[in-house]
Amino acid sequence: MGENDKVQEQHADYHHKQLVIGLFGFGVVGEGLYRVLHQTPSLKATIKKVCIRHPDKHRNAPPELFTTHRDELLDDEEINVIVEVIDDANAAFEIVKKALLNGKHVVSASKKMIAEHLPELLKLQQQTGRSFLYEASACASIPVIRNLEEYYDNDLLHGIQAIVNGSTNFILTKMFEEKLDYRDALLLAQQLGFAESDPTLDVEGYDAVNKWNNLLAHAYGIVTHPSKLLFTGIQNIQGFDANVAAEKGWVIRLVAQAKKLGNGKVAAFVLPQFVKPDDHLSFVRHEYNGVVIESGFADKQFFYGKGAGSFPTASAVLSDISALRYDYRYEYKKLYHHTPGELTNDYYLRAYFSFSNVSNVSKDKFEWIEEWHAREDRKYLAGVIHVFHLLDGNWWHENGNSLILMPDPIIESLELHKLKKKSLELAGLQLHHGFKVGMQ
Ligand code: HSE
Repeated sequence: MGENDKVQEQHADYHHKQLVIGLFGFGVVGEGLYRVLHQTPSLKATIKKVCIRHPDKHRNAPPELFTTHRDELLDDEEINVIVEVIDDANAAFEIVKKALLNGKHVVSASKKMIAEHLPELLKLQQQTGRSFLYEASACASIPVIRNLEEYYDNDLLHGIQAIVNGSTNFILTKMFEEKLDYRDALLLAQQLGFAESDPTLDVEGYDAVNKWNNLLAHAYGIVTHPSKLLFTGIQNIQGFDANVAAEKGWVIRLVAQAKKLGNGKVAAFVLPQFVKPDDHLSFVRHEYNGVVIESGFADKQFFYGKGAGSFPTASAVLSDISALRYDYRYEYKKLYHHTPGELTNDYYLRAYFSFSNVSNVSKDKFEWIEEWHAREDRKYLAGVIHVFHLLDGNWWHENGNSLILMPDPIIESLELHKLKKKSLELAGLQLHHGFKVGMQ
């Protein structure tokens, strides 16, 4: 066979590869996929069976499509792709595991399941040689996993700042720009299909940190667990904080970030942050997500798109299904072909901190305090704190305390002394060893 014939054959193979799908879940994403697939006949992918938990619920699809027996899909030899978009992380893992072991490719949107089982999922992929793709689990419609995996070399990736949760961004926009009450904003996020079935996963930052955990594997080859990452959500942000932001001309966003420090180690966390108007993330409103990547030579790049909702999420699932036609797999290049990155908690953060009762504040934990304002209803300070002090307790997000990072929050230890000196000089004070500017 000549070279040309081979190419023709591969081409034909690509176009004729029939994908027979077993779909788990027919909620916001599952039904979205069902509809999107109907509008994409060129893909040659059909859903043979859908496994659901509640058979009595009305569904907009032929009843014979549905079953409640998962093995009907997992043991069906004709089905070569399992798409799993359910919200029960334990059940999802069992489904994915059996599907891979049965020789099927898997597409998933379950960020929590992936975050909790990443090491086992990596092993299963190596063991079975099957594809396990999950673009929809990161920033829904933004193809961030494949970009991090394929485009950015470990050495070039200086940092990433991202909004990875659509619901919290939607709620922040509705509350602080459109003055909607928190409960109404959350209800709307639920009605529009953005929020998780348990919305505390969104509001308290669990969803964002799960996504961040998974993206760290593709960005830096870091395989960790969400419980090891510093995070919180938007649950403590007060109208007072939004007013302070407005006075400064800033907005508040829940920002996931990772930064390669001078020592080569990676700082990674998910925390609310004040964002200046010239920052790309300030432009990200409603259920949109945004990812700013800082790389060696290209400087900043900005990816933007819908981060939640039926069709935007289904579009990422669809793209993964399509990628299976050319046997695409994640190579986890940074993990297997480079020296994997190493997480560190040895750095400082510049943070704003608001509170109503000064006795709830561990002010000694701040290296120094740059601003201190007492208003009738609430007080705030802005200072610099070591990450250890945030990891070793919950004081900073309990009792109505609210911590929001300042713009450009990460301070590496090397810079610290310099900054400390400068800030004290500005305050008209000398730097003495161990000296802290305290609250009066
Ligand atoms: N609840 C998630 C969010 C859905 O709001 O971002 C998309 O992952």
